[in-house]
Formats: sequence, structure tokens, C-alpha cells
Amino acid sequence: MKYVIGVDLGTSAVKTVLVNPQGEVVHEHSEAYPLSRPEPGWSEQNPEDWVDKTLVSLRRLMEKSSADPQEVEGLSFSGQMHGLVLVDAEGKVLRPAILWNDTRTTAQCRKIENTLESKLLSIAKNRALEGFTLPKILWVQENEPDILSQASLFLLPKDYVRYRLSGEYAMDYSDAAGTLLLDVSGKTWSQDIAAAFDLPLSLCPPLVESFDQTGTLLPDIAEASGLLPSTKVFAGGADNACGAIGAGILQEGQTMCSIGTSGVVLSFESRKELEVDGKLHFFNHSEKDAYYVMGVTLAAGHSLTWFKETFAKEKSFDELLEGIGSIPAGSSGLLFTPYISGERTPHPDADIRGSFIGMDSGHTLSHFARAVLEGITFSLRESIDIVRESGKEIHEVVAIGGGARNETWLQMQADIFNATIIKLESEQGPAMGAAMLAAYGCGWFPSLTDCAKAFIRPAKTYAPNAERAELYSGLFSLYQEVYSQTRELNRKLVPYRN
Ligand code: XUL
Repeated sequence: MKYVIGVDLGTSAVKTVLVNPQGEVVHEHSEAYPLSRPEPGWSEQNPEDWVDKTLVSLRRLMEKSSADPQEVEGLSFSGQMHGLVLVDAEGKVLRPAILWNDTRTTAQCRKIENTLESKLLSIAKNRALEGFTLPKILWVQENEPDILSQASLFLLPKDYVRYRLSGEYAMDYSDAAGTLLLDVSGKTWSQDIAAAFDLPLSLCPPLVESFDQTGTLLPDIAEASGLLPSTKVFAGGADNACGAIGAGILQEGQTMCSIGTSGVVLSFESRKELEVDGKLHFFNHSEKDAYYVMGVTLAAGHSLTWFKETFAKEKSFDELLEGIGSIPAGSSGLLFTPYISGERTPHPDADIRGSFIGMDSGHTLSHFARAVLEGITFSLRESIDIVRESGKEIHEVVAIGGGARNETWLQMQADIFNATIIKLESEQGPAMGAAMLAAYGCGWFPSLTDCAKAFIRPAKTYAPNAERAELYSGLFSLYQEVYSQTRELNRKLVPYRN
């Protein structure tokens, strides 16, 4: 038997999967790592934790499977996007990584917009959002100039881990697109953007395709992970691009909804000249010369985890969600907005916060749990609508992530999106996309599409229920009003957040 490994470097854990040529996940293993919030709105991780836990996860995976290391032909990565890792000329990390969900960079975003004006959208194709990498580099430039002056390169999370595993520096286009330093349609680093902020282009690593080989495992890494130094290492991609590949989103007209810590609605795009005016993210795909448009809800699964940990800590997720099927659609007039860490699409607003509107003495924990799921799904419906407005038809949506694990939530997505939801047979999210990049890179298939045909099988579909779709459509208009009605109040509450 031959295998490939997909490594998904997430925000809370690294997951490794061992996959055979039929696309079956023979074994998987996850290792968690901490996230620190040294100041309100900050979110940092120690890159050493990623490396240590990736090696532990690979070793455990190999031990569990008792696969012969010779049979593992290659591995590749999926990574949390945008996080800034600065390294010096020796490859030493200069400060903790600043993550995608860190919102300290509002001032730097305004500076980027004011300096670049229309160039930002014409070159980087995206608006300046707090989570992206360039604002983080500018924050370090302004607040820790000594650190930036020592930096010889910036990397994204999975690129740092890959560097430590293979000793080679590289960044693939799908992840580079989320930095705001890439000329997205030209597929080169933008000299214009870098020069506008006095950043040398030498700070940017070599660009590669996601399925390009970037070396093999270093001997000590091979030893520590239970693999061989001959194991091929492929570049990998952004978690959303890999999630899309793992869900088979490789052709025009295909859309997915991924609910993890954040939630995304992502639709394949072949036209590099498409203008979305910054309303959606527009990024390079991990498939060659392809793109995708995407809307992001910052706290999707995170809203549910926060709710459970705060109000029902003793319950498991299954126990918490057990009763929601018997709560009527609309949670008996209880509305939730999932803005607990600020929002991106359609409201790029780091100061907005969540609300429960319409609390009633008759509401139970199950009403609240259902309202949280509905609020997250309404937020994603905002992205579905913008994708539809860009001229795309959305009749079917592949559901992946935590949101694909609960039957009531899957049906809710069908009713709120007014589209058929497809659940996959074995849904592994971005880790599977990473494994597919390694499988394609190893030459197992002539194309990623062929790989997807062999690996991905739909298990079940959920059609929208006309009555509930209509009810939700009315409620969605009310949900949309909550943002404008609470924006000013939240702005005034900012000084009290400590
Ligand atoms: C996308 C984004 C998140 C992270 C989560 O722009 O910031 O989806 O990639 O890992």
C-alpha cells in the first residue's frame, strides 16, 4: 500500500491524516496548542508549538497506523491563513506569530487604504482587513521597529512549519494572496505595494504552486516523526483553499460552506479579472491559475464554543444541541448575531459585538442554542447573497467542518441559504485537501479534478423546505437590521472593554 499525509495546521490544533489511493483516511491524529491573548483583541501563538505538535502528531499517526514509513510517499500542508511569522537571517523566529483573528491593526488598515487608494483593489484584489498580513507587518514596523529591522523574511504559519521540516523557504499563491502584498492576477509579489511602505521585496519568500515539491524531510525531522528523509514535502495551501479542494470545489458553479472556528462561504472562480470591489475576498486557489471568492464570518464555530463554554460547560456539544430539533425555526423570536470577535463579511468592523435580541422568560437553553446556530447561518447567508449578486448561481452548497456534523444544522443551512446542502461521505476538511495536493504532487493522478473524483463522495443531500425557507427569509431581514441598530452602541462600549 502507498500513502500520503495531509497536515492541517489549524488555530487550535494540528491534525494529520494518513490517506490511501482510494481517498480513505486510514488514521488521523490531532494535537492541540495554546493561543494567547496578551491584550484585548490580540491573538498570538508560539511557532515552536506548531512545530513540536506537528512532529508529535506525525509520530502518533505513524505509530497508530503501523504503516511502513517507506510507504508514505509525500506530505503536504493546509494552514490557518494570514498569520505573521518574522524570521532573521538564521531562520530564528523574532516574535510570537500574530494570527488571523488578531484585531490590533485597524490604524494600519486605514494607512494602507489611504496610501494605496485604488491600487489596493486593482493589485491585491482585497480590501485592508485587520486579519491580513500586511497590516500586521506595518504594526511591527511602527511599534517594534527593532524587530522588523532584524527580519530577513516573513512567513505564514504553515510555511514556517514546512521550512522547519524541509529546510526550504517557500510560500504558495493561495496563502500569499491573503497577505495583501501579492499581485493576485499577475502571481508575483507587488513591488508597488512593498515600496509604498518601505518594505524590501527580499522580505517576501519565493512563490510556488501548492502542489510543487519543496524538498524532502530533514534527517532529524524524519527521525522525530517516524518518517524517512526521502519523504517528499509539497508546498500546500491556505486552509480555505485546501478545504475547497477537499470538498471538490474545482469547477465554476461549485460552492462550499465551511464552519470551523471561523465560517466561510467560498465559490470557485475562473475569471481573474472579476471585480468584487472588496465586498468578498478574492484569492488564488490551490488549483493552478484558478481563484475563489469568499465571505468570512469571524466567529462561526467559535460562537457556539463560546456559548457552550460560558453557559453549558458541563454538557457535550451533542447534549447541548440535542433539543434544538424540537424548537421552532426562528427560536421563538430570539435572534443572535455572531459578532463576538468583530466581523468581516459583509461588515468589516473590528468593534462590533454580538447580541441576543428578543430574550423572553419562556426561552430555554435549547432556544438559545438554536438561535446561536441560526445567527451563524444568517451571517453566512449574507455572504451567499453577495456571491449571488456577483452573478453566480448557487443551487447546491457542499457543507464541511463542524457545521456538517449536525443534521438539524445541515437542514437549517438548506432552509436559510435556500439551496440544496450536500454532506460528504468522509469529510476531513482542509486536511484532506492537503493530502490531495500531496497525492497529485506525487503523480498519483493526472489532475486535482481526477483526484477529487477518486477521493470525494457525496453521502446525503438536504433540500430546502419551502415553508421554513420563507420564514427564514423574513427573519433574515430583521437579522440584517441588527448590525446597523447596534453599531453605534458597540462603538460607545469600546472604552469599557478591558
Ligand atoms: C480567512 C481567515 C480564516 C482563517 C482561519 O481569510 O482568516 O478563515 O484562514 O484559519
